[in-house]
Amino acid sequence: MVSYKDLGFVNTKDMFKKAMEGKYAIPAYNFNNMEQLQAIISGCLESRSPVILQVSKGARDYANQTLLRYMAEGAMAVVKSHKTPVPVALHLDHGDTYELCVSCIESGFSSVMIDGSSHPFEENIALTKKVVDYAHKYDVTVEGELGVLAGIEEHVSHEVSHYTDPNDVEKFVNATGVDSLAISIGTSHGAYKFKLKPGEKVPELRFDILEEIEKRIPGFPIVLHGSSSVLPEYVQIINQNGGKMEGAVGVPEDQLRKAAASSVCKINIDSDGRLVMTAIIRKEFNKNPGNFDPRKYLGPAREELMKMIINKNKEVLGSAGRA
Ligand code: G3H
Ligand code: 13P
Ligand code: ZN
Repeated sequence: MVSYKDLGFVNTKDMFKKAMEGKYAIPAYNFNNMEQLQAIISGCLESRSPVILQVSKGARDYANQTLLRYMAEGAMAVVKSHKTPVPVALHLDHGDTYELCVSCIESGFSSVMIDGSSHPFEENIALTKKVVDYAHKYDVTVEGELGVLAGIEEHVSHEVSHYTDPNDVEKFVNATGVDSLAISIGTSHGAYKFKLKPGEKVPELRFDILEEIEKRIPGFPIVLHGSSSVLPEYVQIINQNGGKMEGAVGVPEDQLRKAAASSVCKINIDSDGRLVMTAIIRKEFNKNPGNFDPRKYLGPAREELMKMIINKNKEVLGSAGRA
């Protein structure tokens, strides 16, 4: 058993308390490789933002769970050696079993998500409570989920979303003891969040549901998944350089700004990072077909990802300068 405290990570408790008081949200960025991790760390150090490093089950399978955990530990060592470090949490994204959550906690994660949202309500409660009971023994924080996002949630594809029912949240939070709650109010995973007809605008998220939830569990940290903005400039670069991503659309930044000022304390971003890297690599290959040195295409992609992260922390989530 490795304690996250010995590695220098923090759990999300204090981060969320400050985010709630300061009316901003903590960014939760997914990573699968070294360049993404470097960009997240340098972007958050540069913008002085607390950060949640997110690891999905897919990332563990892709990069090897042991290597990934040592990469995170290495990144934390870099943060600690900085003249002004920032708080970093290491979080399991979309944990789907008790065993996976335990495995992450034992290897140094400071926070886990148990996503029981595809189970019936009572089963979701039982599974989430089991994880909370284990995690809290080690001061690890737990995120639960109520409601189902459209798109793909951990290899399970949902055609339509089922918004979170505000009538359920109080019972779920009290019965499970979770530290934060992911809700479904119209966001979805991936790069195609809304099917828009020509000239149609992206619809508003269901802020009415969020407000109702806030009334039922005042001051309780809320999490928004599926919150990439699918920035048009990067989609355009991809399409201009041999890619094919017509109709890709995300959550507009002003809606995320509004959410960050509410009880939404954590905003999950993965697709935007994927798009930046893909855009820059495609552009680089197109410009320089003879380039076969990964440092010469992954390097610029990493640089652009860092810039995107700084901009998000400053202009969208409001987490910059809060470390
Ligand atoms: O919510 C899902 C995250 O974007 C992680 O995606 O399971 O493909 O790593 P992944
Ligand atoms: P996006 O696909 O919108 O980046 O969502 C990421 C996410 O919710 C990770 O859990
Ligand atoms: Zn998610």
